[in-house]
Amino acid sequence: MNLGKVCLGLAIYATTVVAQAGNQGPMPVTDNDFYPTPSNAKVELGKVLFYDKILSGNSNTSCATCHHSLTGTGDGLALPVGEGGKGLGVTRDTGSGSDAIHERVPRNAPHVFNLGAQEFAVMFHDGRVAVDSSQPSGFTSPAGAQLPLGLDNPLAVQAMFPVTSATEMAGQLGENPVADAAAAGILSGENGVWGLLAQRLRAIPEYVAMFQAAYPSQINTADDIQFKDAANAIAAFETTAWRADNSRFDQYLRGDKHMLSKQEKKGMKLFYGKANCGSCHSGKFQTDQGFHAIAMPQIGPGKGHNSDGYDDGREDFGREAVTGNVNDRFRFRTPTLRNVALTAPYGHAGAYDSLEAVVRHHLSPVDSLFNYDTSQVRMPSRADLDEQDFVVMNDGWRIEQIVQRNELASVDLDEEEFARLISFLHTLTDNSFLDDRHNVPSSVPSGLTLAE
Ligand code: HEC
Ligand code: HEC
Repeated sequence: MNLGKVCLGLAIYATTVVAQAGNQGPMPVTDNDFYPTPSNAKVELGKVLFYDKILSGNSNTSCATCHHSLTGTGDGLALPVGEGGKGLGVTRDTGSGSDAIHERVPRNAPHVFNLGAQEFAVMFHDGRVAVDSSQPSGFTSPAGAQLPLGLDNPLAVQAMFPVTSATEMAGQLGENPVADAAAAGILSGENGVWGLLAQRLRAIPEYVAMFQAAYPSQINTADDIQFKDAANAIAAFETTAWRADNSRFDQYLRGDKHMLSKQEKKGMKLFYGKANCGSCHSGKFQTDQGFHAIAMPQIGPGKGHNSDGYDDGREDFGREAVTGNVNDRFRFRTPTLRNVALTAPYGHAGAYDSLEAVVRHHLSPVDSLFNYDTSQVRMPSRADLDEQDFVVMNDGWRIEQIVQRNELASVDLDEEEFARLISFLHTLTDNSFLDDRHNVPSSVPSGLTLAE
């Protein structure tokens, strides 16, 4: 037998299959793409925990503060206002007097749709939480060896971290014991962030009953409750509540070819063809799960990173901060695009306020970066913070550093093609999330208010 011929045959077959998949969009999403369905008791527990401010040091912030059902599971802001702010979405303020926020959160709060799909093995814009079978816990994370065993999946690992952040949920040093532990980097143990929060939950009888129901073979008494059990329940809720795979695009992929109009089908062809979107927004969830530098504007307080000659920490090197590899500078994770019309603002710093603007950026990234219009930024003002928010965008040399790392090629589309592409992106909306009020509980076991 001629092995060479067989290989060539296979190669041709493989190219044809890939090309076809490219033209017609990816394979449809199925139940098997997601983690196994958790019990109702676990999901119900996760739902109240997600909305309960008891998990924050000063009992004033919940996960939902930045990932609310009424704001597309994000917060509708370029950059979140965590601990100390008041209000939800675009009505949120930066607080006042001694309670005012300490600083803005440096990155956009992403939506939480479809993160219960197993292919999301990496979390955060820079991927600092990831599945890693070489670790005892099964994951790499900023907690290193402090991360407990027994976390169900990367989504559960992620849920361990917002409570450890001073700006997001813990509060500032001196304000409460959780904040003090967080400031000292003590996460595990009874006096660590997670132990202190577990103690709060153990003291609320309604929570004890809910934990027992969610973990019948594991939790018998209040003392058995660990924070990782809360994180696993939160992940179970997120997985179940925000599975969004019934958009018109999904129905089209499952065989109902009438779900897309002619205009939308042309947009889809552009997405997977001429406009080259599908090269990074690939696969069933329209992400290659990889990291790319696409010259996104940098606004806000930054992640403490500095190009040569600067020391204000206002930049965000993205993936480089995790890998230590300078080739990863300004690379961020490719976002999934389901429900993208519901999740403005866009980009790792939320710099673009509309879908049109972020797509135009993709068509001509360098021009778009240089001509970036800061007036579109949607976040509550605070005089003593504002002035600093655009220092990178006001500095041509620093913008040039971002441009030099850009990997995204420009694409020429006329206005008709642009409109088609946008109309396709709207077919990715799962209409059940146009009204997501049922995913908000009417009360939480701590008795704390649900108002943000
Ligand atoms: C103050 C705002 C804020 C609060 C409160 C908050 N988050 Fe987030 N969340 C963010 C931001 C900002 C990011 C992105 C951070 C990054 O990538 O560096 C994020 C990222 C995430 C992600 C990762 C999404 C992805 O695609 O990688 C998940 C999941 C998530 N948060 C869930 C939660 C849960 C669960 C809680 C409560 C335990 C919570 N968040 C509390 C702002 C917040
Ligand atoms: C080279 C890879 C690459 C290509 C090609 C690409 N994108 Fe992106 N896209 C990304 C990355 C990476 C981000 C996030 C960047 C960031 O946060 O700084 C992103 C962000 C987005 C966002 C914002 C989503 C959000 O949740 O913030 C949209 C919308 C989007 N892309 C649509 C498109 C469209 C439409 C095309 C084709 C015209 C396209 N992309 C081509 C990599 C790519």
